[in-house]
Amino acid sequence: MRGLADKGGIFINKKELEKWKEKLKTKNLPAHVAIIMDGNGRWAKKRGLPREEGHRKGVETLKKITQACGELGVKNLTVYAFSTENWNRPRREVNFLMDLFQRTFEREAEELVKNNVRVLFLGNRTEMAPSLQKIMRKVEKNTAKCNGVNLNIALNYGSRREIFEAAVNLCQRGEGDFSEKGLENYFYNPDLPDVDLLIRPGGEKRLSNFLLWQMAYAELYFTEVFWPDFTEKDLYQAVEDFQNRQRRFGKVGGE
Ligand code: FPP
Repeated sequence: MRGLADKGGIFINKKELEKWKEKLKTKNLPAHVAIIMDGNGRWAKKRGLPREEGHRKGVETLKKITQACGELGVKNLTVYAFSTENWNRPRREVNFLMDLFQRTFEREAEELVKNNVRVLFLGNRTEMAPSLQKIMRKVEKNTAKCNGVNLNIALNYGSRREIFEAAVNLCQRGEGDFSEKGLENYFYNPDLPDVDLLIRPGGEKRLSNFLLWQMAYAELYFTEVFWPDFTEKDLYQAVEDFQNRQRRFGKVGGE
């Protein structure tokens, strides 16, 4: 039988996958999905490959899942590509990742426009190489008018730093608007909506300094699947799980 296997060995073919997608579309979809793309290194290790191969495969997964979000009708997708803490990894891996970002954005710049994907970056850019900053600006500019999925890529991102620096800016330049909205105005992307669903593949159950403010009421979904193995089916599973939750936002159920 031709099909896609999941971790538990259940097979699902293309037609069933399509039906599943159409069913999900009829219910409340998360407007903003955030993903911590974890497990690249372990995926590679399991296969006797260098960790870098996991990151390379992780890019393919990101392309596939961005497209799947578009087809499903998820408007905003935010992914954690490099944290402020990731600079502490071995130099070789950091260099590889920076090079991978550079080459991927150069290669995909036109394809993103063709696929109507709008890209925005979150994080501190000034610490990145000038050539990387340049291609990031170009991708943002080229895709500025795209109105399909908004793909937000967190690069050199740390949530505490985002909140702390916003607070400093608000105090120094904020013209007295000491409100939550006033603070958000100094975030990397002030228009980023709150996260509805956080997905973390790779088996760890933590937030790792990712979008802490924006995830105040997010539903959290953890799966053992490593990011390079993550498929549309895993996305659908997470969205289905989300649709079966009761979100109360601090109120009593049924209000
Ligand atoms: C975490 O897995 C993953 C990263 C720190 C890098 C994520 C980057 C990508 C998937 C590439 C994205 C590319 C673009 C162009 C945005 P890990 O290395 O911590 O895995 P481990 O926990 O198994 O060691």
